[in-house]
Amino acid sequence: MTNKELLSRLYEVIHPYRGKMLIAMIAALVVASLNGAQAWLVKPLMDKIFFEKNMSYLNILPFAMMAIFVVKGFFYGLNYYMLQNVGQKVILILRTRLFNHVCNQPLSFFHNTTTGDLISRVMADIMLLQVAISSVVVGLLRDFFQVIILLAVIFSMDWKLALISLIFLPMASIPIVKFGKIFRRLSVIIQEETAKTSSLMHESITGAPVVKAFGMEAHETNRFRKQVTKLYDILMKKAKYYRFQHPIMEGIGGLGIVIMVWFGGKAVIAGESTPGTFFSFLTALFMIYDPIKGVSKVNVTIQDGLAAAGRVFTLLDVKPEIRDKENATSLAPFQESIEFKDVHFGYTEKTKVIKGLNLKVKAGEVLAIVGPSGSGKSTLTNLLPRFFDIQNGKIEVDGVDIRDVTLNSLRSQIAIVTQQTILFNDTIRSNISYGDEVTNEKDIRRAAENANALDFIERLPEGFDTIIGESGVKLSGGERQRLCIARAIMKNAPILILDEATSSLDTESERKVQNALENLMKDRTTLVIAHRLSTIKDAHRIIVIKNGDIAEEGTHKELLAKNGEYEKLYNMQ
Ligand SMILES: Nc1ncnc2c1ncn2[C@@H]1O[C@H](COP(=O)(O)OP(=O)(O)O)[C@@H](O)[C@H]1O
Ligand SMILES: [Mg+2]
Repeated sequence: MTNKELLSRLYEVIHPYRGKMLIAMIAALVVASLNGAQAWLVKPLMDKIFFEKNMSYLNILPFAMMAIFVVKGFFYGLNYYMLQNVGQKVILILRTRLFNHVCNQPLSFFHNTTTGDLISRVMADIMLLQVAISSVVVGLLRDFFQVIILLAVIFSMDWKLALISLIFLPMASIPIVKFGKIFRRLSVIIQEETAKTSSLMHESITGAPVVKAFGMEAHETNRFRKQVTKLYDILMKKAKYYRFQHPIMEGIGGLGIVIMVWFGGKAVIAGESTPGTFFSFLTALFMIYDPIKGVSKVNVTIQDGLAAAGRVFTLLDVKPEIRDKENATSLAPFQESIEFKDVHFGYTEKTKVIKGLNLKVKAGEVLAIVGPSGSGKSTLTNLLPRFFDIQNGKIEVDGVDIRDVTLNSLRSQIAIVTQQTILFNDTIRSNISYGDEVTNEKDIRRAAENANALDFIERLPEGFDTIIGESGVKLSGGERQRLCIARAIMKNAPILILDEATSSLDTESERKVQNALENLMKDRTTLVIAHRLSTIKDAHRIIVIKNGDIAEEGTHKELLAKNGEYEKLYNMQ
């Protein structure tokens, strides 16, 4: 994205707050003007009070000075408050927009993006952006205006000296531009490395059980240290440039002072100027130094901000690959059948996972899907809720192509229980009623009971109010699975997908979970993938997936009699 595009998009974001921005700007201008007045007042202060010893000036000037301080303070505060007001609002809006955008991405997006990267966009980048907005719109304006006003004071005091001092302004601006470019480049790298660091940390922390089991704490720490060291190196590089920028700027300023004092002092000694004029001039010159430095700092901030804006807007521009068609209709409640018609799908162009598969599942049917690991069983079931879109063919529910209906109406009719139990760090109650805005205590209880979960929930000291920890770490595998089943029961969707829901459990909990699953399957159309073939003997129909298509189908008995793929799989167990 070019700077111009970035700026026009930033403008769009702050446009609604232009009123407040204007107040902040005016306040900044008042502060700048009063600074100029302060420098200007040094002349009468010196000449009238200290040299002419004029009493009436003594009675007025200090109070005038004080008034200026107070008023300046007030406007400074106003400026700060208004900027925060707008800046924090921009943060709020952009963060929410970005988060919502990320939430609406399809699963494939999350397979290709790291958590740390997303977190750093939503948190750090948006903050950099806000700082840049405040600095650009008001900081830059304030400093620029300050320079103009102080220049006016300088010229009104001594135009010859002023001309000499002007030589130094362009000299000071050369390093500003040079350093600005360097800082922008470094800022991009710093953000990227910071994101990598968060990702790495996220991975190690969520993988803690495996890290411990393998005794890899030192290895993980080492990996982390390497990454943090990279970040350290680049930050130190930035610090080094800062270190050079500083003496160069100070040196230029110091040289200016030397020349000013020499020429100014000479004029006072010769009687061509007064000490008041000279000190007023010098005060203004000192004061001009800060805003000039400010402009150079603003440059770094702008560069940081533009880099951040680039990342934020790029992410915002990622169109979700799977989204509602423009004229998508709502899918009517499921009644008759689900049909896969010559379905082709692959995660990439080259590797096809499903190749021309045809399948019809009637309402109320329990269809078991078996096949070797990696044959595409999970993939097949993930196509129905459109977690991924097929490349060729059609999937129909009651004769309607699932790409013609809204994702919401489609997904609301499908409940899924997988081997991975995904739960939230919240109460048992909210985990069971997840997605259900109006929660009915009785329904939650019944769902828990049907999921064989009530006994363990009631044994917990806080029952349904127990907070279960991140991903439910405070529960056993079987308990987590039963909560997921209770959640699926609560959802009460007509279509059910069970993907190896019991395969990670021991026999004891498997029995309980199996029981719960049978309750869940009642009156539903079920696609069940089972690891242990013994659990699907009672399925109405079994299909064997091989090489991306259905190799065999029939009931348990029929398939065994065939002495084919199913029999092989069955005997292996
Ligand atoms: N998100 C993904 N991106 C790329 N390839 C994938 C992804 N998920 C699964 N696969 C690949 O697709 C094939 C089928 O996987 P899957 O449907 O999970 O098999 P199954 O459930 O039968 O064990 C495997 O070769 C697997 O490596
Ligand atoms: Mg699978």
